[in-house]
Order: sequence, then C-alpha cells, then structure tokens
Amino acid sequence: PMRPSVKVEPNPALADSAFLKAARGEKAAHTPLWFMRQAGRYMPEYRAIRADRSMLECIRTPELAAEITLQPIRAFEVDAAILFNDILTPLPVMGLDLDFVKGAGPRISNPLRSTRAVDLLSVPAAREVMPYTAEAIRLLKPELDARGIPLIGFVGAPFTLASYAIEGGGSRNYEYTKQMMYAEPAAWFRLMDKLATVQADYLGEQIKAGAAAVQIFDSWAGALSRYDYQTFVWPATQRLIEAVKPYGVPVIYFGTDTGHLLGDIARYETDVVGVDWRTPLDTAWAQLNKGQAIQGNLDPLLLAAPWRELRHQVDRVLDEAAGRPGHIFNIGHGILPTTPMDNVRRVAEYVHERTQQV
Ligand code: CP3
Repeated sequence: PMRPSVKVEPNPALADSAFLKAARGEKAAHTPLWFMRQAGRYMPEYRAIRADRSMLECIRTPELAAEITLQPIRAFEVDAAILFNDILTPLPVMGLDLDFVKGAGPRISNPLRSTRAVDLLSVPAAREVMPYTAEAIRLLKPELDARGIPLIGFVGAPFTLASYAIEGGGSRNYEYTKQMMYAEPAAWFRLMDKLATVQADYLGEQIKAGAAAVQIFDSWAGALSRYDYQTFVWPATQRLIEAVKPYGVPVIYFGTDTGHLLGDIARYETDVVGVDWRTPLDTAWAQLNKGQAIQGNLDPLLLAAPWRELRHQVDRVLDEAAGRPGHIFNIGHGILPTTPMDNVRRVAEYVHERTQQV
C-alpha cells in the first residue's frame, strides 16, 4: 500500500526553479535559499493571525495555513515555500492528545509509556484524517506557480516523532525514548514501523496535491550514537524514504548534530542532506555521495547579529560551498522568534546578489 502507482508530472511553471535545480545537483542561476520555520512568530503578520487562534486551528484551516505559508514568500526573496503545518500533526490522529502550550511548546497528555499503548496506536490514511493539508496545498498552488516558487511538503522522521510521542514533549536526554528502545525493542520497532507507514502515506498525499519537493525532519537524531542510529532508527527511516522516492520529487533529509551520522545518512541516497552549523559544508559534503546536494547551514542566532558579522558568516558559508552546484542556502535549524525581519530580507538579497551567474 506504500507504493504509489504513478510518478507525479513535473510542473512546467517550475522548470526554471533554482531550488529544484540545486536539489537535483544541477547548476542554477543563483544559489537558492529558504529558511527553516520561515513562517512564524518573528513576523507581525503571523502574530496577527495567531492572536486569537490556536496553532492547531491554523494548521487545520486550509485558508489560514495557505495564507501563513505565503507570508514569507511575499516578504522576502526566498526560492521555496514550506507548508505551514507541524511535524506533530499526525500524532493526534494516531491517538495521542497533542496541544501547543504557549511558552512551553508541544505537550502530549497521554505519552506512550507501554508496549500496549504502542499497539493501540492507529495507522489511519492521511486523506481521511488530515484532508486540510492537501486542501491548503491546492489553495496555495496558483499563487506559487505564478511566482515560479516550488512548495516543500514535509513530515517528521520516525525517531524524532517517537521522541515527542514517548517523552510527551521536548526533551534533553530522551530518557523514556531510549528506555523503550533498549528495554522493549520489539515494541520500539513496531512503533517505528507505524510512524513510517503514516508519514509515507502523508507525504504521498502532499506530493499528489502539489508539493514539488519534500523534507523529512529528523531534528533530534543527533542524540544517538552511531550504533543506536544504525540499529534502532535507520531501517524504518530508510523504508519511509524508499516509499517516497518513486514519486520522483527531490527528497531532503535533515537532522541537527549529525556530523557523526553523515556516512549512514548518505546511504539513504536522498537528493539533498540538510546539516546544521556544527559541521562545515565542505566537511559534510566529503561524507556524502557524488551528486548529493547539501542544504545549510548558518547558525540561526546569526540572524540576530550585527550585519557586519552576519554578512561575514554568510560569505564564509558560501565559501565553504565553493560555488559547487547543489548548494541550497539555509540556516542550520529553525528561525527564532526574536529574529529581525530586516536581516532575513538582507540575507536573501545578499545570497542572490553574490551568487548570481552572469
Ligand atoms: O518551516 C516552516 O515555516 C513551516 C512550518 C513548521 C513548523 N514546525 C511551524 C511551527 C515546520 C516545518 C515545523 C517543524 C517542526 N515542528 C519540527 C522540526 C524542525 C525543528 O525545528 O527541529 C519540530 C521538532 C517541531 C515541533 C515543534 N512545534 C516545537 C518544538 C514547537 C515549539 C517551539 C516553538 O518554536 O514554539 C512547535 C511549534 C511551532 N511549529 C510553531 C511554528 C510556527 C510556533 C507556534 C506558535 O506559537 O505560533
């Protein structure tokens, strides 16, 4: 059931997209860029929509999700849009009670703490339980196509989703998560399988609705040793990625603190690997496969630094990429709410100006 029957047709409106070219490792008119979490609280137009609506209400209302997705596209010279949603959206439809608590982040009131709870999780079809996501994409597409901007669909990777489902929120040491991994490996693998199945189906729905590329967020994978990553995480992540590849859109795998895992990450053979600021781009690239593109990797805190330092470090990142085809400029993790919008605007313009091919 995870096998799509057809490849999606490429969208002619996006034929010249620098983002899609770079994602395929091809030479582009300029180094494309976008910012992880580019829609969000640092923008007053986002805060205005969120003032009297919850995060989940915004995600589940296609008109609102479409509007928020477009806000950074209208404000900055970014080369890709990312759907406004969250990696945790599929957890409620599987049976977990999720809320976004102001100032505290995501909270799950019934976290997974037993093998029985894992077995009770449901594996619903995305089309049935999250129809608003495809609908938001359909609403967005005309404006994005007119601007020649591709949309990135996304899901969370099994490990990162499992960490929220088991801990009940963010975590520093992943105590319960690692406990399930080590003490109840059979339940752990059943959980990883269920998560991979739901996310593969959900990404397929996003691609069929019009997502031109997809990103798999494995934000916290770096918390694992290489052995644990290979043993407990790699196989289900690989199944998810293999289920999505036949659609034929570029796949980006992103994690933070993954310097020690890049050899294993390269073996997924995704089109693009996203890295954070801890590993220089050239060092990371040396561990990837020939032709694999790279995405990153400015420290998001630099977006709050004085322009002199910010520009110096944008130059440094571009120098580490050395003009090789297949670089997508990004930050190494999400934009923070304290980020000045002017710096986002200036970085986008500067990267385009500096890398313009004449
Ligand atoms: O990038 C984008 O603009 C698209 C939207 C997007 C959001 N979350 C919106 C969001 C994406 C791609 C995500 C991914 C996500 N969500 C990840 C993976 C990337 C990463 O940052 O590591 C993770 C781990 C989450 C889980 C999550 N959602 C956390 C930990 C939080 C709280 C932290 C915070 O910044 O408040 C959220 C909430 C969230 N997701 C917000 C947004 C805009 C803030 C909600 C608000 O208060 O308005």
